[in-house]
Amino acid sequence: MMDRRQFTGTLAGAFAAAIVPRASFIGRELRDAPAINAARLNAHLKELGAFGANPQGGVSRVAYSDFDRAGRNYVMGLMRSANLDVQVDFAANIVGRRAGRDASLKPIVFGSHVDSVPEGGNYDGTLGSLSAIEVAQSLAEQRIVTRHPLEVVIWSNEEGGLYGSRAVSGQLTAAELSNKAWSGKTIAEGIAFLGGDPSRLADVRRRRGDIATYLELHIEQGGNLEREKLNIGVVEGIVGIKQWEVTVTGVQNHAGTTPMDQRHDALLSTAKFIAMVNHVVRSEPGRQVGTVGRVQAFPGAPNVIPGRAVCTLELRDLDASKIDRLYATIETASRRIGEEDGTTFDYKSLHENVPAPSDPAAREMIESAAKALGFTTRRMPSGAGHDAQAMAQLGPMGMIFIPSVGGISHSPKEYSTPEDCARGASVLMGALLLSDKR
Ligand code: GLV
Ligand code: MN
Ligand code: MN
Repeated sequence: MMDRRQFTGTLAGAFAAAIVPRASFIGRELRDAPAINAARLNAHLKELGAFGANPQGGVSRVAYSDFDRAGRNYVMGLMRSANLDVQVDFAANIVGRRAGRDASLKPIVFGSHVDSVPEGGNYDGTLGSLSAIEVAQSLAEQRIVTRHPLEVVIWSNEEGGLYGSRAVSGQLTAAELSNKAWSGKTIAEGIAFLGGDPSRLADVRRRRGDIATYLELHIEQGGNLEREKLNIGVVEGIVGIKQWEVTVTGVQNHAGTTPMDQRHDALLSTAKFIAMVNHVVRSEPGRQVGTVGRVQAFPGAPNVIPGRAVCTLELRDLDASKIDRLYATIETASRRIGEEDGTTFDYKSLHENVPAPSDPAAREMIESAAKALGFTTRRMPSGAGHDAQAMAQLGPMGMIFIPSVGGISHSPKEYSTPEDCARGASVLMGALLLSDKR
């Protein structure tokens, strides 16, 4: 692992080299760019991993759980040590502010999330969160004051569906507040549990133009960068995501006395539904994906034909109209399954993340910062959802990816090397300083 001095050397040298061809754009601040402390960043990643550590080596720190709250308290401590002025907003986002030289400018916002999926890993969200704090701390230590005010934001309940960031972008609907989160709490209960106030979400809402730029560092969660032996991914856009809860209703009856041809088995219809979703999504070219990720049968006993089954449906693509078209096909096909089996399908929309292209200038800044550090890059779409897509509603958005070993994520096996984590944080610092110039 590189130590701090070595990394500082690399950074200063690389920025100095890059200054030559693009001097007017990059300017003095970046030539003397402050280094991030790679060792400290990686130590913080390890420490945060203790909150909700699971036996498989990852974390189960689902939003609104006790572990989530404890992890957030740890993170708020780091933010205060980085001289950020820390507050929890009404949507339970943690916001750490730092004044800039020009108070009339809109803030540059950067951060990520620290909640995980059930049986998640140690890098999804936490890398971007702790790197944002590391950038703030390095700026403070090296007495660098940016032109723009800075806001480090740790978004609440990203994994459940970007709830904290969509409250800020105005995309969160009142109906969604009664959705159940993995912790067992509703969204409204969870927001209150973390110190927010679900009745005042309108007060956190921001409008287009309220932020100067949003930047987020994240692990790739796929295998492209590793396969191509590249350091940094420059995100071109983030897929749209729609999720539904699908309730299949049949007739509950005795599993021993009801002949096979007289059943209306809700779980059997659900099984046909799962296979049909896979078929529909694969039946046209493109990068669209569709998943049934949860199924429950009721009453759920070996000797009872399930009268009701509840499953989820999720569709993702960069093109929102393709998602709608696939959904229409799936809905029609499910009605046919229902007619065959004597069951019914009812859909309840859970939430929607709209597709979001990144800002062309932000892509270039990320590339310039990476190249100045001597890192290789490629442009790529993001198949995972991110708070950045809500922030893209408010202003220019840029996202930085680093390699995920084995392309594994949403798993305790999720891993990125300490060197790649440090590279990502350094590019975040560089891109932030370039954004500050525009
Ligand atoms: C978030 O990680 C998502 O893509 O679901
Ligand atoms: Mn994430
Ligand atoms: Mn995730």
